[in-house]
Parts: sequence; structure tokens; C-alpha cells
Amino acid sequence: MSSQQATDELEVAHDEELPAAIEAIRSRRSGHNFDADEQLDDETLEAVIRDAALAPSSYNLQPWEFVAVQDDETLDEIVELAYGQEHIKEAGTAILVLGHTEPETADEVFQQWADAGRMDEEAADETKATAVGMYDDERMGRDYGIRNASLAAENILLSAHARGLTATPMIGFDHAGVSDLLDAPEDKVPVMLIAIGPSGGDEPERLPRRDVDEILHRESY
Ligand SMILES: Cc1cc2nc3c(=O)[nH]c(=O)nc-3n(C[C@H](O)[C@H](O)[C@H](O)COP(=O)(O)O)c2cc1C
Repeated sequence: MSSQQATDELEVAHDEELPAAIEAIRSRRSGHNFDADEQLDDETLEAVIRDAALAPSSYNLQPWEFVAVQDDETLDEIVELAYGQEHIKEAGTAILVLGHTEPETADEVFQQWADAGRMDEEAADETKATAVGMYDDERMGRDYGIRNASLAAENILLSAHARGLTATPMIGFDHAGVSDLLDAPEDKVPVMLIAIGPSGGDEPERLPRRDVDEILHRESY
């Protein structure tokens, strides 16, 4: 099947009655058309972050943080650090998703595993040692933070879309510069910047997606 056929099938699927989550996955877009006169209200921002926090994470460590920026001057500085991506300002809200590179939640989370009776204290201690070992070197710590926080970022995109908002994930920005600007600690890796806000209207057609026959490798690569 060609990429175009695969894309056509996606479009056809939009007409079917689908579970809401599947519909959201299929119709989500990285939008660039925001209503510059409107901004995300606090209640919605918190609801979206609550949805982000429901993402799966290794051992449930939840190694993520979110910095939401709505201040006009700070958004202007972020646009500059994002090589002039004006849609960040037009969105009205930018969320910097950060990943932990140190296992700072491990004590609390493994206590919760034990308290819930999902592990005895000894198993919780042993498993905690394994989890903490995932952060043994800098590269592993960064990978760990990025993998987990990326899933939370995807939840933000889907939650925003399901709520009728537009959201665009971005890595096209000066990571160190934005981290500095927002006073993010050095042990937090910037994973994604998300421009999020009320939609300003239609987006261009989705570009073709690679075909399942091309990307699905059965049994071995
Ligand atoms: C890791 C990552 C980085 C991205 N960086 C940017 C970016 O800096 N600026 C931007 O406008 N879009 C960015 N995007 C959005 C992609 O361009 C978009 O997801 C892709 O074109 C597919 O379009 P769709 O999400 O609407 O299906 C990024 C997406 C991802 C996943």
C-alpha cells in the first residue's frame, strides 16, 4: 500500500464511529493556527497537566516536571530562543516538559509500592536499587528522563486535542537557553516545548504517513 493510500484510509476512518481515544489519536495535529486573542484558562491548564501525570512511567517514578509560561515578555524571549517560531506567542501558553536525570522520586514511590501491598519492604528495596541503577551514568539518566517525559508530553497533546485546543510539540529551540530563562535546575533535561492554546481554525492537510507494511517488522527486523 502506498503512503497516500494509508493516509486516505486514515481520512476514511474519521467517518466511522470510533472510541473517543482512537478518534483523538487519528485526528490530532501539530497545529500552527492559534487564536491569538484567547488563552488557556487555569482550570484547563491544570486539567491538561493532570492528564499528563497519568502517563505511564518506569516503576511509576513519574520523572517529569512542567513549566507553563503565559507571560507575554517571557513568551517573546522563548520565540527568540526558538528561532522565531511565532506560533508559540500566538498560542498564548508554552509548556516546557522536563525529565529528571536523577532518581529523586524513588524513595517515595517505592514506599507507595510497599504500602499498597504490591511489594513487600524487602522487594521494594531491591527493586528500588535496580531502578536507581538506571540512572548510573549521565547518558542513562538523560535517556530515562527523555523516555518517560516524552510519554507525558504525548498525553498533553492528546488531552489538548480532545479538549478542542491546538497543541504543537517542539524541539526546535535553544534547550540550554530556555532552561536558563525559566530557571530549570541543571539536573532536569528539557524534553519538549509545547505551544498550546485555543485553535484559530483549520490546519493544512496532514502529510502522508509511512505505510504499516514499511514500518512493521514481524518477528525480526
Ligand atoms: C520531537 C518533535 C519535534 C518537533 N519540533 C517542532 C518544532 O520545533 N516546530 C514545529 O512547528 N513543529 C515541530 N514538531 C511537529 C512536527 O512537525 C509534526 O508533528 C509533524 O510534521 C507531523 O504533523 P502532525 O503532528 O500534525 O501529524 C515536532 C514534533 C516532534 C515529535
